[in-house]
Parts: sequence; structure tokens; C-alpha cells
Amino acid sequence: MTDFAHRSVLLDEVLDALEPRSGGVYVDATVGGGGHAEGILTRGGEGTRLFAFDRDESALAAARERLASFGDQVTFVHSAFGDVEAELRARGVDAVDGVLADLGVSSPQLDRAERGFSFGQDGPLDMRMDPSKGETALELVARLEVDELANVIFELGEERRSRRIARSIHEAYDADELSTTSDLRAAIHRVTGGKRAKRDPATRTFQALRMAVNDELGQLEALLEALPRLLVDGGVAVLISFHSLEDRPVKWYFRRSTQLVPLSKRPVIASDDEQRENPRSRSAKLRAARRLPRSEAA
Ligand SMILES: C[S@@+](CC[C@H](N)C(=O)[O-])C[C@H]1O[C@@H](n2cnc3c(N)ncnc32)[C@H](O)[C@@H]1O
Repeated sequence: MTDFAHRSVLLDEVLDALEPRSGGVYVDATVGGGGHAEGILTRGGEGTRLFAFDRDESALAAARERLASFGDQVTFVHSAFGDVEAELRARGVDAVDGVLADLGVSSPQLDRAERGFSFGQDGPLDMRMDPSKGETALELVARLEVDELANVIFELGEERRSRRIARSIHEAYDADELSTTSDLRAAIHRVTGGKRAKRDPATRTFQALRMAVNDELGQLEALLEALPRLLVDGGVAVLISFHSLEDRPVKWYFRRSTQLVPLSKRPVIASDDEQRENPRSRSAKLRAARRLPRSEAA
């Protein structure tokens, strides 16, 4: 039994937007523990098909177990969703009725020290969602010049003290004192001071490095750009983001698109009950859009 405890956010709201139906074909671009996927397959009923993507093999293993009873209704794809179009084409699928992306990392990814995402527990400076390939956070820090690292921390962490933090991280690296998440946190704290408020001052820099290691904004852009081609006429895309750097591109892409129409002007947020039960849902914003019929779209 895989131990993958992740509570899906905005589950009813996702299903109300997607309206899965029997015979429909859907993509869960971020299957994680499979909670939303299970909802889609259950609400859609027999004959619903789902392509379940995740770049993390351990998430896919958990989803495989959870969704086993749906048999060959589900196809699991170990891939980043930036390649969703090519991966679907390779499986003979040109268009789908709905796409869901629940962005960011899952609770188990954050909780497992060895993944190196969190400073809550000490682990290697890794942060790759797909540990089978690509550069780790430590390798990224080693490769970037101080100015480049400062830009990453400023842009992806919205951190004002980015230059000083970048310098401190490089100093730790040069002194062979940077190999774990605790080392990184200590290097940041040397500039910011330790945790005083609710939020640790290292949070922004950790977010920035994680987003850079996984090219999260590049992935999001590739997915958004593929949506008009991927969706059938009337098909729906649902994106859930957890901070403004992710929400902004979604909002503007939907607003400017001549092929997708947002289902609501404002993002959908979690109910008070959900926010109380699942603190992670407090920062979630759901935006959904429908593909216009090709004959009407500009
Ligand atoms: C918030 S969790 C999804 C939780 C899931 N909706 C559920 O109900 O359990 C996000 C998942 O997306 C995956 N992920 C993030 N970015 C990805 C990308 N670019 N391509 C594929 N998977 C990605 C992560 O590995 C993680 O498992």
C-alpha cells in the first residue's frame, strides 16, 4: 500500500466545471494521489476515459493503486504536462473533452525529507518533481552566477533581499557548507534573520528554487498554449493555482484568448468549511474556461 496522503482541493468545484460524462475523454495533467481523477471517473461513470499525467513516478504509483478499480479506463503517463499534446498524439488521441491541472507540489512530496523540497525536515538539496532526470537545486545553484541566482530568487520568489541572499548561498557553497535543505535555510537566515513571524523567511527562496528546478512557469505556459488545440468544441480546461505567479498567466491567457471563454470572471476559491479543514486550500484559486466552437472562434 503506498502511503500518499494528499487532500484534493476544490473537488466539487472541479467536477462542476468539467461536468464529466460517460464517453468523455479527460486529462488529469497532475494526477498526484488520484483524488480528482477518482472524482472525474466516478462522476463520469462507465465509459469515461482518463489520461493521468504526473512527472513524479511515486505519485503515479499511488494513483495507479487508488484508481485500480477503473481498469483500462485510465492510461497513466509518466511525463511533464508541458508535453501533453505530443504524449496524447503518440497514443492516438487528438482532442479531449476536459483538462485539469492542479498545480504545484503534493503534500507527500513536501513531507518526504529525501525529496529536498522543504526546510521542515532536513534533506538533500534536490527539489526535482521527477527525480529521474534534470538538474537538482544544488546543481542549479552551482551553475548559476550570483546575479543569475539573485534574479531567480527575485522573480520566482518575489524576494526583495534576493541579491544578498544569492551571495550568502554562494558563500556557503564555496565553503562546502551547502548540501542540505537546512544548509540552504541557514544561508538565507544569515541575511534575513531566523523565523519570527508565521512564515519562515526562507519560504520565498525555497519556492523560487523549486520553480526554477522544475521550470514550473515554462510548463504552465506550454500547457496553456496547447489548450485551444487539445480541447474539443465546448471542452473545458480547469486550472488550480496556489500563488499569484501561477494564477496571473492563467488569468491573462484566458482573458486574451479568442478561443477560450472563462466560465467566471473571478477565480473560484475554497468554501469556509474547506479552508478550515484543509489549510492548503486557503491559497487555491480555480479558473476554468470553455473552448468556443471552431466555427465561432476568431
Ligand atoms: C497538487 S498535486 C496534485 C494532486 C491531485 N490533484 C490529487 O487530487 O491528489 C500536484 C502534482 O502535479 C505534479 N506535477 C507538477 N508539475 C507537473 C508537470 N509540469 N507535469 C506533470 N506533473 C506535474 C506533481 O508531481 C504532483 O504530484
